[in-house]
Amino acid sequence: ANKPIFVINYKAYETSYGHQALLIAKASEKAELEFSIKTIIAVPFTEIWRISKEVSIDVIAQHVDPIIPGQGTGFITAEMIAGSGGKGSILNHSEHKLKIFEIEKGIERLKLNNLYSIVCAETPRSSLAVANLGADIVAMEPPDLIGTGVSVSKSKPELVTKTVEKIRNSGFKKIPILVGAGIVDKEDARKAIKLGADGILVSSIIMKSKEPEKKIFELAEGLNSLNK
Ligand code: G3P
Repeated sequence: ANKPIFVINYKAYETSYGHQALLIAKASEKAELEFSIKTIIAVPFTEIWRISKEVSIDVIAQHVDPIIPGQGTGFITAEMIAGSGGKGSILNHSEHKLKIFEIEKGIERLKLNNLYSIVCAETPRSSLAVANLGADIVAMEPPDLIGTGVSVSKSKPELVTKTVEKIRNSGFKKIPILVGAGIVDKEDARKAIKLGADGILVSSIIMKSKEPEKKIFELAEGLNSLNK
């Protein structure tokens, strides 16, 4: 079985840049080395270059614009992410929603630059849709639970199992399926894997923590407490 995937989405919290951002990156790297998991950090664009120089784990973007290099003031191309040391990008997060053609183009632009996509969706049905668009990794997050501390795995387990079912039954046997929203402790992480997910996406409980390393380790432990 593949290693469970642990994505930490930095979002735009005060801790998402500067000293604390690096500290969280180092702790994530340590967690990957200590537990049998794959750790990915999704940092602000401004941090990709610096953080990717400092850690061996995958550093990715939180979004990419589906444009080709050229006239595009203020846009971020897949080339910029690759050139800064990034390995991929989240696309269509519920806080940064895209139109279908933008998701499709974004995935394509990332692939052209040897970057992978983690495409978010809010329901089991749209999770299958983004798998069909060519996502490398699918991430299902019910938006109403994001940042609440009430986890998708505990409060809406049926959404996790349905997502896994829909995607696997449609012939996508290998595409990693992540779930996120409200994940705060070891049990939430463990339960996500138990329900058939391949990993989790987490933000606030780490980014707002006074002891992020402790939290990262706790969740990492929860993730590999089951052998699939
Ligand atoms: O991308 C992960 C995120 O949306 C989940 O946020 O704060 O509920 O862990 P949070």
